[in-house]
Amino acid sequence: MHKPSGGRDYLISLLLASSVTVFFGFYLFIRRGFLFDAPVTMDTLYVPNKALANAGVMLIAFIFLLGPIVRYFDRFDKWLGYRKEIGIVGTFLLVLHGIITYFYLPLKVPQEELDLDDLDILAGVLGAAILTFLFVISFKKAISIFGAKKWWFLHRWGLRTVILLTAIHVVLLKWEGWWKWITVGGNVTPSVAHPLMVPISLLVGLFLFWVILIRFYEVFFIYENFGFTGNEGTQTPEDKIRGQKFFLGSFWVFVLLSLVILTRFVLW
Ligand code: HEM
Repeated sequence: MHKPSGGRDYLISLLLASSVTVFFGFYLFIRRGFLFDAPVTMDTLYVPNKALANAGVMLIAFIFLLGPIVRYFDRFDKWLGYRKEIGIVGTFLLVLHGIITYFYLPLKVPQEELDLDDLDILAGVLGAAILTFLFVISFKKAISIFGAKKWWFLHRWGLRTVILLTAIHVVLLKWEGWWKWITVGGNVTPSVAHPLMVPISLLVGLFLFWVILIRFYEVFFIYENFGFTGNEGTQTPEDKIRGQKFFLGSFWVFVLLSLVILTRFVLW
């Protein structure tokens, strides 16, 4: 149930998080034409903050996907061992994103505009707060305080709630921009050097929705159980094959959709 953390597990999780963040940073650097060296009308941390936020979403969505991966494909069993550390590193990135957004983006996001009455901001703040709570109770002592069953329940439903809040936060903040990009693209401005390159948040959003779809399929068609008490239930060999088929089929649809988006202004 509780997994003691080893230095090696943190090292691997840190390497994964750094690779994703650096890759996104590099992509944004090409698309925007700058990383820290922003034009005078933009905040210095505007672009690095996007790399952190998108990398954080990838990590949190990935740990949500790890359950089905391990349940359907035996050879990935040991990946489950990294779930806690990847979650902690992802939490760190997202809390940092919240802090940077609040304190260091005065031009793009003035503090007085960060209003908890706005659902998009409220969802982000609640998501970061729940992640911080899950981090605090991730230590072994918390199990004896809550009891194993309640501790497990808090982690399971905490992560599910964070994923839902993330979807609300990202869709409300980005939908308009995504739709505009898909339908008309964009023009070169001092803050976007290559506007026809896909916004990274659109690809990350697609990944998040694929992960949510996999988990919904599992709840409704494999376990037929929301998992309010204990584990979802047992999985028969037939369930496992159905799960594998849906996982792989939807994975290829996700890859195809990503390719369609990536080539939006190249092929059509
Ligand atoms: C679970 C926690 C959070 C997640 C998963 C998350 C995720 C994201 C993502 C993916 C983006 C889009 C970045 C892009 O444009 O490429 C974003 C933008 C944004 N987030 Fe968050 N966020 C979280 C917490 C917060 C918090 C706590 C705040 C408020 C302090 C916040 C405020 C914002 C704002 C204002 C933007 C738009 C900034 C911009 O246009 O660059 N977020 N967030």
